[in-house]
Amino acid sequence: IHYLSAKATDEFELARKKVARFINASDSKEIVFTRNATEAINLVAYSWGLLNLKPGDEVILTVAEHHSCIVPWQLVSEKTGAVLKYVMLNEDEVPDIDKLREMISPKTKLVAVHHVSNVLASCLPIEEIVVCAHNVGAKVLVDACQSVPHMVVDVQKLNADFLVASSHKMCGPTGIGFLYGRSDLLQSMPPFLGGGDMISDVFLDHSTYAEPPSRFEAGTPAIGEAIALGAAIDYLSEIGMPKIHEYEVELGKYLYEKLSSLPDVRIYGPRPSESVHRGALSSFNVEGLHPTDLATFLDQQHGVAIRSGHHCAQPLHRYLGVNASARASLYFYNTKEDVDSFVVALADTVSFFNSFK
Ligand SMILES: Cc1ncc(COP(=O)(O)O)c(C=O)c1O
Ligand SMILES: *[C@@H]1O[C@H](CO)[C@@H](O)[C@H](O)[C@H]1NC(C)=O
Ligand SMILES: *[C@@H]1O[C@H](CO)[C@@H](O)[C@H](O)[C@H]1NC(C)=O
Ligand SMILES: *[C@@H]1O[C@H](CO)[C@@H](O)[C@H](O)[C@H]1NC(C)=O
Repeated sequence: IHYLSAKATDEFELARKKVARFINASDSKEIVFTRNATEAINLVAYSWGLLNLKPGDEVILTVAEHHSCIVPWQLVSEKTGAVLKYVMLNEDEVPDIDKLREMISPKTKLVAVHHVSNVLASCLPIEEIVVCAHNVGAKVLVDACQSVPHMVVDVQKLNADFLVASSHKMCGPTGIGFLYGRSDLLQSMPPFLGGGDMISDVFLDHSTYAEPPSRFEAGTPAIGEAIALGAAIDYLSEIGMPKIHEYEVELGKYLYEKLSSLPDVRIYGPRPSESVHRGALSSFNVEGLHPTDLATFLDQQHGVAIRSGHHCAQPLHRYLGVNASARASLYFYNTKEDVDSFVVALADTVSFFNSFK
């Protein structure tokens, strides 16, 4: 009852409202704070999945999912007998939407897909996928980790059933993410974790549960992190998500073009055009060189930060015929000059390593 604790609660709930407004959820009760996007997907897998999936039911994913949107479904399909089906890429190196449409059948119970790929930089037509899935009564979960920080995401327009994102990719702190769930679905779901304020009444032999979102927020919540995420959202909103997106589409195209002008560079994902917008990142390999060598030299000799490895997308890398790739990822604070510096540094790095051949 102390005013400081009441103030903390108010600020925490205000942060929930900010998240709801940011993705245009109709009610802040549809926002569940989790520790990250991975936990949000596990919440849906264990709560909704264990309740609704039966042997022979199908869950459709793409080969380009992040491990966070693959492994939870593997764990839950082992328990329920549900079957995982994967959509591969088409010749433009994006998940094949025509195949996905064909794969959706009355057996489909869930389609769980990324919005923007963290490797291919491609964007899936979620609204279309939702219409197809809803036609057969299936639900759709959108892994929006790579879209929410970079573009306007409107959950009512997408009409998806679940959507997850992560604070640390949108200028907020680590240790917090969120699940958006349609209220009727959240209402129908049992708790994922037990204890703390997720209860209504606790008896020695059973408990009754609070209404969502509290039902899914067991334990002391990450109050400070949620409030800080709210501040990050204020910051992004002040700049304006349409402006951020427009700028990043241009920057992403510039990165792609500059990078593809270098010899022996293979960039993954679609070629940008009037109609194909890439996210502001490029995953690539240089013929004959290991991405970790590139990343190490770029860091130590040029102060350029890129990532190397499988980017938590091993099935996708295997599909592309490689074990790893290098990835340059940009945000709205990067400039074309940053891209130029990176490309000059990469050319220098490549000639350094090639001089030993
Ligand atoms: C597309 C995608 N999905 C899921 C995740 C997992 O997010 P988190 O690490 O916050 O659980 C990430 C980032 O790591 C991602 O890029
Ligand atoms: C949020 O969704 C509602 C319902 O679809 C729509 O009328 C409204 O314009 C949206 N808000 C914004 C800011 O886009
Ligand atoms: C992400 O969520 C998982 C599952 O709840 C948790 O184990 C992990 O510690 C979380 N990461 C952070 C940075 O909080
Ligand atoms: C991938 O890794 C495996 C195991 O380390 C190795 O045998 C294989 O040659 C690697 N493939 C490529 C394309 O680097």
